[in-house]
Amino acid sequence: MGVPEGYRPMLDWALDLPGQLRVGYKAARAAGLKPGRFANVVVCGMGGSGISGSIARSLLWDRARQPILSCRDYDLPAAAGKDTLLVAISYSGETEETLSAVSQARQRGCRIVAITSGGRLAAIARNAGWPSVGVPGGLPPRAALGYLLGACLGVLEGCGIARGLGRDTTAAARLLERERPTLSRVARSLARALLGRLPFVYSTARSLDAVAERWRCQLNENAKLVCHTSELPELDHNEIVGLGGPEFVAKDTELVVLAERDTHSRTLARVRETLFIARGSYHKAHLLTPAGRTRLERMLWLVLLGDLASIELARLEGVDPKTIVRIDELKRRLAQLK
Ligand code: PA5
Repeated sequence: MGVPEGYRPMLDWALDLPGQLRVGYKAARAAGLKPGRFANVVVCGMGGSGISGSIARSLLWDRARQPILSCRDYDLPAAAGKDTLLVAISYSGETEETLSAVSQARQRGCRIVAITSGGRLAAIARNAGWPSVGVPGGLPPRAALGYLLGACLGVLEGCGIARGLGRDTTAAARLLERERPTLSRVARSLARALLGRLPFVYSTARSLDAVAERWRCQLNENAKLVCHTSELPELDHNEIVGLGGPEFVAKDTELVVLAERDTHSRTLARVRETLFIARGSYHKAHLLTPAGRTRLERMLWLVLLGDLASIELARLEGVDPKTIVRIDELKRRLAQLK
């Protein structure tokens, strides 16, 4: 079986995460943003763009003074108003849900910052005189995570939502560069373990919820697989009972548990007890703990591991990690309905 065409470029883009992070962050800090007094932050974006906002929100969940909300739809939450910092992220600049939310944000008087490689979002921001962070184009949006996340962190710091994000970004980029060989090795072995199985990815700290979501989306789009995500300790109050049902799923369920230093010691005890009580309801469990001193380092260590594992899994399955035929078809069909 030959190597799928998109394997090499997807791998190279994934491994460029540290370089992209630096570029994205720098672009945002050069955008002339000013700190403001905001009641809340709303990050709008879908799929491969929206995930960067979710990762930023997970990173800052106990650090930002204002609530950071994700908007993954056409309509804004009621909390979005004059005191809202609205960060609109669309790699293509053409995503209809994001453009709809931006148009509502304009009517409500939100302070809007765009992050995009071009398209209508760039044009709207230019015409309206909003700050806009331009990132290099030409990649699949999910392969541009570093640009978008780096830019999002730069925007949040520039607008006064959190401090120290530049230092965090630099440290994370350095760690990922050093860890690339280890991550590549672990990703290949994980991909072999996931081949032919149904992945369940569990997060064990709120900083890891968006990381688990990234794993799911990358397994969906790169490896063309369904993937389930859930979180501890919450799943100990419901899903623990359902694990293993229906029976035919149990023998092929592969659990990936993401843990880190911020994981509460009682939650770690829960992981052990949950895996014990539910033994026989899954094939195998993999407990993954990242390297890294800072939270962002650890989050992105796990993100890059998931990205690489999904690309390796695509290679083992003989599917092209770059193509997303159904998303392309859906966008084409919806455009015709207008
Ligand atoms: O991976 C993808 O291509 C999608 O998830 C897109 O990111 C999503 O459709 C949104 O498009 P964009 O990122 O250009 O706003």
